[in-house]
Formats: sequence, structure tokens, C-alpha cells
Amino acid sequence: MPDAGSIEKKPFGTMPNGMPIDEYLLSSGDTLRLGVIAYGGIVTRIEVPDRTGKMGNVTLGFDRLEDYRARSPYFGCITGRYANRIGGAHFTLDGIQYRLPANNGANTLHGGPYALDKQVWRAREIEIADGAGLELTHRSPDGAEGFPGNLTVTVVYTVRFGNEWRIDYRATTDKPTVVNLTNHAYFNLAGNGAGNILDHRLMLNADQFTPVDAASIPRGDIAGVGGTPFDFRTATRIGDRIGEPHPQLLNGKGYDHNWVVRGGGGKMPVPAARLEDPASGRIMEVQTNQPGIQFYAGNFLDGTPPGSGGTYRKHSGLCLETQHFPDSPNKPHFPSTVLRPRETFDSTTIHRFSAA
Ligand code: GLA
Repeated sequence: MPDAGSIEKKPFGTMPNGMPIDEYLLSSGDTLRLGVIAYGGIVTRIEVPDRTGKMGNVTLGFDRLEDYRARSPYFGCITGRYANRIGGAHFTLDGIQYRLPANNGANTLHGGPYALDKQVWRAREIEIADGAGLELTHRSPDGAEGFPGNLTVTVVYTVRFGNEWRIDYRATTDKPTVVNLTNHAYFNLAGNGAGNILDHRLMLNADQFTPVDAASIPRGDIAGVGGTPFDFRTATRIGDRIGEPHPQLLNGKGYDHNWVVRGGGGKMPVPAARLEDPASGRIMEVQTNQPGIQFYAGNFLDGTPPGSGGTYRKHSGLCLETQHFPDSPNKPHFPSTVLRPRETFDSTTIHRFSAA
């Protein structure tokens, strides 16, 4: 019988209105420990052993709430109501045009400047047999950041025996709207602050990706990865091809693209990615039921401000954001992100950590 999990709670900081923010530390029955704060639903730490059993925090983060509030490059947060980009900061749904705030050139990134990552969510500890869970709920009002409909979002983080971190997202609306939710954790399996991720080996279970324009908006076509630096069908060192003059790598300033998950977009999670740090032996496997995964190599990390693992620079961490394709609301041939009243948006991503 695996040991039961546990949750500890300790003060993390205070919002300007005096609201205290706690850090919940969720322990699985074995060795995984996950830190979560209700502000942005941010995952502050992910502690797992290396091949010698030495624990390390494998996600980038800050020690202070102020830093998450003021200048976080989306470390560990829940991203929405539309994760990733919407081109031209507008979309049309059922003949109505919705205008959104532009916060990334002419485009909307990660749901706008005051999106789900900036909200204080309601947190509730939940009991599960072989681990620990935290449920976060937020009601985003009709018109928030330009999106139609009162949207109720629930995100459940669970840690389980087997060093598994699972995220279940649910959302419902009272008006037709668009939804795309993800978690924006940055990973460095060598440990937070231990150099860059260029020696990590990545496998992406994807035959295709969605090429982008110079502003990182999908062009609309779906391209095969064969013969390009985007082919991660067999595990490949990230640094091997990142500097190649491929036009798509120039557009993304490195890897910052959406891959089409083979067999994704159904009900059940399927393998999407496997990341390995040969030095520490740590491995992370990602499964999802989402149709896409954005692999972002931390191209824009620029050293400010110092975080819990020291100074984060370009490639100090990478993101594997399971999601719908960027700009789907303006690309009718992409899998639909439309959510209507009486429907439920339902998404699951599972991270499994091990070492070899
Ligand atoms: C996403 C985007 C990147 C970048 C980061 C945040 O992953 O795709 O281009 O904006 O978020 O810095």
C-alpha cells in the first residue's frame, strides 16, 4: 500500500488589499512535492529526486509574491482565458466581433494583461486515496479582458504515488465564448538555476507543427516536421539544432511553437512529450488530451529579476504547454476552442517524474 499524501500550508505573502496568500505544499505518497499559491494558481516548486535520490526543485520561480505579481514571465501559472496568442487581438464568434486588449505587439497573449494568471483563486484541499489534491476555482466575469460569458474555471492539481502531477481543467460559460487553458511551468530537470536546458533531450510525439509568422501567429498551415529542426520524434538534444537558420526558428527566436500531438484532442490523455536531463538522470513524461503542445525554450528570459534559483537567463528553463492551437478562434480549420452554455471544457495533463 502506498503511503497517503499530505498537504502543508504556510504563509507566502500578502496582496495589496491585505489578503494573505498561502503556499500549499502537496506531497505524494512517495517523493514528489508540489508548491502552489492561490494567486494565479501558480506552481512555485516541483521537488523530485535525481538518480542518486538527491531532491531538487525542477521548476523556475520566485521566493516573493511581489515578484510573481510585478514581473513574472508566466512562471508556473494557470494561463487563460485563452492561453497563447490571438492574432490581431480580436475574433468573431456567431457573427459578433470581440475586441481584446493587445499585450504582445498587435496580438493578445495568454488572455490579456489581467488574465487568469493575475487572479486570486479560491483554494480547497481535497482528499484522495493515494496522494494529495488542491482545487482552485475562479469565476471570470462576462467581458473580462474582452471575452464573452461568465466563465467558471476549476483547476485541480493532484500529486499521486508514482511521482505523478496531474492537472484537470474544467470550464463552463453562460454565453458562447472561446477557451484555451494551460499551465505555464518552466522546467529545468537539472534543478532550478542549474545552468540551461540545452543539454536536455526532448521527445515530442508529433509529426506536424503549426508554422508561425514573425509575430508568432500561426500562418494557418500545418507542416510536417520531417527533415526540419522541429522533428523531435526521437529524443534529441535541444541545443543541437536550436541555432540553425531555419526561417521558423528565426521567427520564434528559437523554439516557441505549437506541435500537433499525435492522437491528441480526444477524451483520453496520450503521450505528448518526454524530457530527460542526462546529467541528473531526471525524466519527465507528459500526457495530455489536448490537441497541441507549445514547446517554448525560454528564449525571452533575460536575467531580471533574480528568482528562487538565482538569475534566470535565456534557456534557463523550458515550457511544455499542453493546449489548443494558438489563434484557433481565427482559424476555423483548427480544432475548435468554442465553448457554449451547457457544455463543459475538459482538459487533463499528467506529468510523471522518474530518474534513471
Ligand atoms: C509563451 C509564448 C512565448 C512567451 C512566453 C512568455 O510560451 O509562446 O512566446 O511569450 O509565453 O514569456
